[in-house]
Amino acid sequence: MTVRQWDAEVRKYMNYQWYPGHMTKARRMMEENIKLVDLVIELVDARVPLASRNPDIDAMGKNKARLILLNKSDLADEPVNKLWKEYFEKQGMYVLEVNSKSGSGIKAIHGLVKEACREKIERDRRRGILNRPVRAMVVGIPNVGKSTFINSFAGKACTKTGNRPGVTKGKQWIRLNKSLELLDTPGILWPKFESQEVGLKLALIGSMNDNINSVEEMTVSLIGMLRERYGGVLAERYGVEEATEAYDLLKDIAKMRRCILKGEEPDMKKAAFLVLDDFRSGRLGRISLEMPCME
Ligand code: G4P
Repeated sequence: MTVRQWDAEVRKYMNYQWYPGHMTKARRMMEENIKLVDLVIELVDARVPLASRNPDIDAMGKNKARLILLNKSDLADEPVNKLWKEYFEKQGMYVLEVNSKSGSGIKAIHGLVKEACREKIERDRRRGILNRPVRAMVVGIPNVGKSTFINSFAGKACTKTGNRPGVTKGKQWIRLNKSLELLDTPGILWPKFESQEVGLKLALIGSMNDNINSVEEMTVSLIGMLRERYGGVLAERYGVEEATEAYDLLKDIAKMRRCILKGEEPDMKKAAFLVLDDFRSGRLGRISLEMPCME
């Protein structure tokens, strides 16, 4: 299968998950929910902050305070995380690097929410409205870590405030403290489909089920990116010679790791899964697949 054919496969799969009706429904829900909040907390995957966003959220979240969380920052390259922080800050957003799994960076959110919503808080105060909590919603594409984040951020200490007729009809809110409430259903954004490269990156970070037939192609692409941007990583982990072309490199990895079929043929699929899994779990080190200066 060529990379182009593989990309077509990925797009077919994505379109299968996000058929137009599904997307229209998700968009409608998002538009409805955004009206209820002061702040949109958008989770992106720090390894691919652009591919893991949906650009429509900028239009939908216009006039709202915006907080971008570079989630899974533990898996991404630290200096590159800093560049992404600057990149989004230049666009007027507040940004934090977080690891929702360990809870790292989560505490700092409260201070930043106050800063992001300062105008609203002051406007309320001028109108004599005191202590009205900031309302926020969490959005992101599937698998970016929304549920993990909500569990980590809201924890056990929070209480569900229940339905409030008139204002928040039918919606559940989680009260974190007296100044912040979260809409408790994470808003699922649809990935963008325009570019083949986006499909590849989303597949690599595991935002789509692995299409078994494509894993080899996908991993060969990953190996190409790693050779280019993270020279030495593959050599160190697998003891292979990186000067080799990406497909042959995967073959060498298969041999080094004894992924062998009957007749001493390298088991490329097994080796591909091994590399992919090492990448996704951080065993290859902290790796960013997108850099702001390259976009
Ligand atoms: P979603 O609601 O947006 O769909 O995502 P969810 O919270 O289910 O998280 C998807 C996967 O990402 C989970 O892994 C979760 O543990 C992991 N994850 C979330 N945030 C972080 C983070 O900041 N750093 C790292 N390293 N991982 C994160 P899983 O493999 O599906 O589950 P599990 O094996 O961790 O239980």
